[in-house]
Formats: sequence, structure tokens, C-alpha cells
Amino acid sequence: DQHRARQKTLEPLKLSHEQLLEVKRRMKIEMERGLRKETHTSAPVKMLPTYVCATPDGTEKGDFLALDLGGTNFRVLLVRVRNGKRRGVEMHNKIYTIPQEIMHGTGDELFDHIVQCIADFLEYMGMKGVSLPLGFTFSFPCHQNRLDESILLKWTKGFKVSGCEGEDVVTLLKEAIHRREEFDLDVVAVVNDTVGTMMTCGYEDPHCEVGLIVGTGSNACYMEEMRNVELVEGEEGRMCVNMEWGAFGDNGCLDNFRTEFDVAVDDLSLNPGKQRFEKMISGMYLGEIVRNVLIDFTKRGLLFRGRISERLKTKGIFETKFLSQIESDCLALLQVRSILQHLGLESTCDDSIIVKEVCTVVAQRAAQLCGAGMAAVVDKIRENRGLDTLKVTVGVDGTLYKLHPHFAKIMHETVKDLAPRCDVSFLESEDGSGKGAALITAVACRIREAGQ
Ligand code: BG6
Ligand code: GLC
Repeated sequence: DQHRARQKTLEPLKLSHEQLLEVKRRMKIEMERGLRKETHTSAPVKMLPTYVCATPDGTEKGDFLALDLGGTNFRVLLVRVRNGKRRGVEMHNKIYTIPQEIMHGTGDELFDHIVQCIADFLEYMGMKGVSLPLGFTFSFPCHQNRLDESILLKWTKGFKVSGCEGEDVVTLLKEAIHRREEFDLDVVAVVNDTVGTMMTCGYEDPHCEVGLIVGTGSNACYMEEMRNVELVEGEEGRMCVNMEWGAFGDNGCLDNFRTEFDVAVDDLSLNPGKQRFEKMISGMYLGEIVRNVLIDFTKRGLLFRGRISERLKTKGIFETKFLSQIESDCLALLQVRSILQHLGLESTCDDSIIVKEVCTVVAQRAAQLCGAGMAAVVDKIRENRGLDTLKVTVGVDGTLYKLHPHFAKIMHETVKDLAPRCDVSFLESEDGSGKGAALITAVACRIREAGQ
């Protein structure tokens, strides 16, 4: 019957404890391949050195500008950091939009737009002509040889801007500043959003040695032992590694967990074949998985009376906020129906139940996969330090993690289940990653001044 047919389709989206343990095991193998010199080039999980070697210690101070590019919002921030008795951070920020044409345009257009936003912000703050050190949160995979140089490896998520891959984004930004001839900026640090988030949370909690983003995209960073970071000289101490775990599976190692729906979402994306783990977890893609399942059901006459509306054929209709609303516990089915109606999908009461179940299954798998990845990370930190048990905090940000009613809980349970020897706390970043970028900039400025 129809119910059984639907359940059979959803079956491959449900992962067992053993399967999740296998995902954790494979993540660990891929982490090691990314860290090793001989295997790094061909490894999909890049494990990129960040040149950030310590979490905040409270001595940071000064006024900084920060940019935050790559999530839902583009932000320009002024961050004032105080140390000593008045220790604390004061922030002012303004959100700007990056139009779709710019996300798919040329590098010059993108960076001119960014500089235009900075100019507007300085004017808005009454700071025209002031030159401050700048920390740049740039949430894409970059190869770094230093803190203030960052070569874009490839665009991910919704960005596809020509002429940037293989280029240093600091140079691209400086060139745009010079084109405008209005102000100068001292770009001190480029950081990934995971790193910025870890630092933001590390300011409140010294156990915070991991950063996690579950938003438009998904990624993690953590403090790795220098002796294991083979791409960088030196054996002593630790360095934060930007994992770029979104690319986990790009060599086929997750193929037996991927469903026909994951393949369909990947095929229709801006970057087919790339970021396969991210496409099973993050906000930009979960709604697309759901939509593909619903299309399949409808084609087979198991939903919407077998009629595929134009709406259902439209890419991107199920945004994170809709998935979160539909799964909200206190929501009556009638309200689910009205959400669907709002999306242009006429549904019966039975249809609403089915749509809600599909959302639940897809989000649950995402949270469990994310938990399996995180279990690999915390267990690696524990093993690195030769500990029986590890106490660690993970700083987290991203709209899916923050808005979805069940994602966080399922992810936490999965980590507990798969890494029982780690005592893991999760701390939500209230201030985004711009604050962390400013703290990193502050430390770099202090070291630079001491060296002069
Ligand atoms: C923000 C951070 O709060 O979270 C960004 O400041 C980050 O740097 C973002 O990219 C991730 O979430 P989303 O959902 O906006 O992609
Ligand atoms: C994508 C980016 C990565 C970023 C993540 C979360 O995976 O490649 O750099 O951290 O999205 O924003």
C-alpha cells in the first residue's frame, strides 16, 4: 500500500548506530589524509592550517574593523576590545546584502561592492578617513601561508564569482580599495567563520577548542598538535586547523550512504560532485533533499494527489526557516498546511503529515551525520593528548543549528553516543564570528608591535 511504499523510499535516509560509527571512522581516516604531506594534495578534507595558534587569553585590546562574508548576511563591524578590569567587547555592525548578480559576477564587481559597503559603514559610524586594522572573516576554503594572506581554493555554497579562485583575497580587497582611492585599510588577518566562531566562544570559555558552523554551509575547525600539521614547519604547540569537512565524501567514501535524492541535489547544484557531506547536512541543501523526495512521492501518486505543481518544481522553495517551522512541535497540522499553502502547495491533511515526516527524516539524518563528524573530531583531540577522557567545548553558529527545533538535540545525543569518552559542551555564539576575527587581529597587532 501507499504508506509502505513511502516508508520503503525513506528507509535509506535512516542511519543505524553502526552506520554512524562507520561515518565517524571514515572521517577520522580522511582527517589524517588531509594532515599528511604525502596525501594532502589528493585528500578532499583539506585540513587547512590557519596560523591561529592560541585561543583568547583576555589581554587582547584595541579598535578593529571586521568583515563577515559567506553566510546568510554580509556584515561590516566595528569591534572595540578592552582588557584588564574593563575586559569586554563592544560591537557595532551593519548588515548589507550581496545581490545574486554579484554572487555570480566577476571578482572586481564583488570586491568593489564590499569596499562600497565598508565606505558606507565608515560614513554611518562617523569614521570617514579613519584607518583601523581589519580582520576578514571569509567563509570559504583558503590556502594560507600566513595570517594575512589567503588564497581561495574554490567557491562553495551560493557563490560563483569569476577570477578569484587561485587568488589571494587580501590582494583582491586591497586592489578594490585602491581603485576607489578614498581610504586605506590594514588587512591583518583572514579567518574562516569556524575559526572566528571558536575564538568568539573562546573569549567566554577557555575550554573552547572547536568551532562548528551549521548554516548555509557546514564546517568545523579545532586545535591540532603542531607535530600533526605536516604542512607547516615546527613541532611545538598547537595550531587551529580549518577542516573544510563539507568536502568529506568527494572521493566517493560516502557513496554507500548517499541516496538518489542526494545525487539529484548534487547534480543540480552550482558545484556538482563537490561538498558532498555539506550537501547532506546544511541549510542550503536540506530543503532541496526534501523537495526531491516530495517530487518522487508525487510522481508515484503517493502525495498531492499525484499532481506536480510548478511550485514544487522550483529550486530553493524550502528555506531553512520553513523546515524549522514545519517541524516545530507546537504546530498543529492545520498550520503545516498553511505553511505549505504559503509555498503555493495545496495539501490535504494527509499530505501535511507526509511532508512533515519527510522533513523530520531528512533533518534527523543531517544532525546525526554532523554528530558523527564531530565525534571523530573530539576523539582525535582526546587521542592526540593521550587522555582517557576529555572535557571540551564546541563553539557553534549557523541558522540551521540555531533555528531548527530538534537539530541541536539530536546532534548532541549522537556525539555522546559515538564519543562516550568525551564530555562535550556546546556553546552558541551570540556575536557571530566577526568578534573572533577582531580578537585574532588584536593578537596579531600586539605581536607585530612587539617585534618592531
Ligand atoms: C554567523 C557568522 O553568525 O554565522 C558567520 O558570523 C557565519 O561568519 C554564519 O558564516 C553561518 O551561518 P549562516 O546560517 O548565516 O550561513
Ligand atoms: C562552506 C565553506 C566553509 C565554511 C562553511 C560554513 O563549507 O567552504 O569554508 O566554513 O561553508 O559557512
